[in-house]
Amino acid sequence: MAILLPGGAGYIGSHTAIELLNAGKEIIIIDNFSNSKPEVLEKIKEITGKDFKFYEIDYLNRKKLEKVFEENEIEAVLNFAGYKAVGESVKKPIEYYTNNISGALVLLDTMKKYNVKKFIFSSSATVYGEPEKVPITEEFKTGGTTNPYGTTKLFIEQILKDIYKSDNSWDICILRYFNPVGAHESGLIGEEPQGIPNNLMPYIVRVAAGKLQELSVFGNDYPTPDGTGVRDYIHVVDLAKGHVLALKKLDEEKQGLFIYNLGTGKGYSVLDMVKAFEKATGKNVPYKIAPRREGDIAECYANPKKAEVELGWKAEKTLEDMCRDSWNYISRQ
Ligand code: UFG
Repeated sequence: MAILLPGGAGYIGSHTAIELLNAGKEIIIIDNFSNSKPEVLEKIKEITGKDFKFYEIDYLNRKKLEKVFEENEIEAVLNFAGYKAVGESVKKPIEYYTNNISGALVLLDTMKKYNVKKFIFSSSATVYGEPEKVPITEEFKTGGTTNPYGTTKLFIEQILKDIYKSDNSWDICILRYFNPVGAHESGLIGEEPQGIPNNLMPYIVRVAAGKLQELSVFGNDYPTPDGTGVRDYIHVVDLAKGHVLALKKLDEEKQGLFIYNLGTGKGYSVLDMVKAFEKATGKNVPYKIAPRREGDIAECYANPKKAEVELGWKAEKTLEDMCRDSWNYISRQ
């Protein structure tokens, strides 16, 4: 029985593939390399010393997807095939709604057809919109997303709740990621955003590497300790391990719909991140204060207690690990 990973060559998918293989699971990756590279598959094999099946297909292609279900015994699906760039989603809403929502629907419908009802969904803290307070627990109200990317996460969560309501033999886990950063400690895989990065850590790394001149800190007048935005940065390997434990939970429970925050519970400001990066790597990160970025919130960090109690999961890696591993990956490219 295999675990199917649509988007398994991407940033979070590839790190999760490694943790699943290390946990002795059989995996199958499908990917169309729209935001990843084929070499990643070889790197996963190199890191784990294990092999797996791969299909180069778009998960929106129902016929080809069905063939994968036809040819293999699949027990669960972890969906990493969503597009994830906030700014791009504002410019390309149709592409985002099609890939993320239609893709998820094709996948779920195919799963139903082949009676595979175990599903883990990569959601995001973005579904909380602008939280009334921090830390955020899973009971907080959702909604108020400010871009199509975030709205796809919100809609798919609702679709999953409706599917479970209609047929409670499904076994579904929604994982709400906070801010994933870092890379595998081997330096062989990591995040490679195309073009100029939107997210803080990839931007810092490129400034440190001299590829970009300076970081723009988006706003220093937020109601936070140093005025800059506060987020819950989580090492991608910790995040990946959360999926292995979520799968274990689904194996134990057999049916249900579960929602977990995957964050560290600690909030760091933009300037904290700059200082931590400089300390961990010895590199200089020049920055300037720039206006606030539209759609940004002041503070966002998790209360990760539920995942700790119910999954036995806790983020273990430090901010130093996150900075060092991000740098280690990029400086090898
Ligand atoms: N920031 C800067 N300069 C930059 C980039 C970011 O100052 O060049 C600041 C932002 O203003 C924010 C913080 O760094 O305060 C983090 O910004 P990111 O873009 O790295 O992350 P966001 O919190 O905005 O977004 C992330 C994910 C989204 C997800 C969202 C909410 O990228 O996928 O968290 O969960 F939707």
